Amino acid sequence: MRFLIGCVIMMGVICTGKSFAMHRASSVEKPLVVILMGPPAAGKGTQATALTDYLGLPHISTGDLFRENIRNQTPVGKTAKAYIDQGKLVPDQVTIDMLFARISHPDCQHGYILDGFPRTVEQARTFHQRLEAQAAKVECVVLNLNADDAELVERITGRMICKGCSKPYHKHYSPPQQEGVCDACGGDLYQRDDDTAAVFTKRLEVYRVQTAPLISYYQSKGLLKQIPSKNSSDQVFQEVIHALPHTPALAEK
Ligand code: AP5
Ligand code: MG
Repeated sequence: MRFLIGCVIMMGVICTGKSFAMHRASSVEKPLVVILMGPPAAGKGTQATALTDYLGLPHISTGDLFRENIRNQTPVGKTAKAYIDQGKLVPDQVTIDMLFARISHPDCQHGYILDGFPRTVEQARTFHQRLEAQAAKVECVVLNLNADDAELVERITGRMICKGCSKPYHKHYSPPQQEGVCDACGGDLYQRDDDTAAVFTKRLEVYRVQTAPLISYYQSKGLLKQIPSKNSSDQVFQEVIHALPHTPALAEK
């Protein structure tokens, strides 16, 4: 019975999300850009995956784009690998060029969900300057996910990711229905090379020094909304939805 009720709620969420996306696409509203920020393992990928279903907007993760480039052994992939393996940020210019190439695709014309970009004040400045220079203005909301360090370590050590669609799972919090297989696309699940304790410690340190300053950067622009992410993914998702502009509150559905 609880399963059936859950399915009904989820179908309602998905249907309302799709109509929200169709409404945006057919109206004169500006494209919506949702920026998901937060330390490694805060849940950016998890929330972006759910938001993509809800809003019908593409999920653009610079980490996923780099991993795809590494798999395809492109020049960007070769440059990025050396940094990612050490838990360091890939240089700004490489990241910005890759990101802008991706968001120039037609699927981004009504907006997109950014996961893990921007990650430095320089990336943010360049991104917003370029957006402002474009004829079509966008509406931006920045959601900062956070959880304490012990929770982040617990999440990272139990994480598995789909090779096919990049959907994240967790061995305790959100296991797949069949071990090692993605519920969404049937792809194999794997552990990321940079999810070792040593690299994770470095990623957290890099986050504090290079990415955390973006919190005050976006606060001063009036764009930042704080989303505590210590609760379950579903509860965090409800907070995410409530923080979006022009979105009917879930409670009203
Ligand atoms: P990237 O791939 O973006 O990694 P990250 O920022 O370290 O973040 P993660 O992907 O590890 O965590 P997440 O927040 O997505 O959490 P998830 O949802 O998976 O970047 C990798 C590397 O690429 C960087 O280190 C850098 O080198 C390079 N890079 C990328 N972007 C760059 C940029 N802009 N500039 C320069 N370099 C860049 O969740 C984690 C786990 O927790 C999962 O198992 C999940 O199931 C579970 N979980 C999630 N939410 C909850 C919850 N509420 N309760 C319980 N469990 C939860
Ligand atoms: Mg991620």
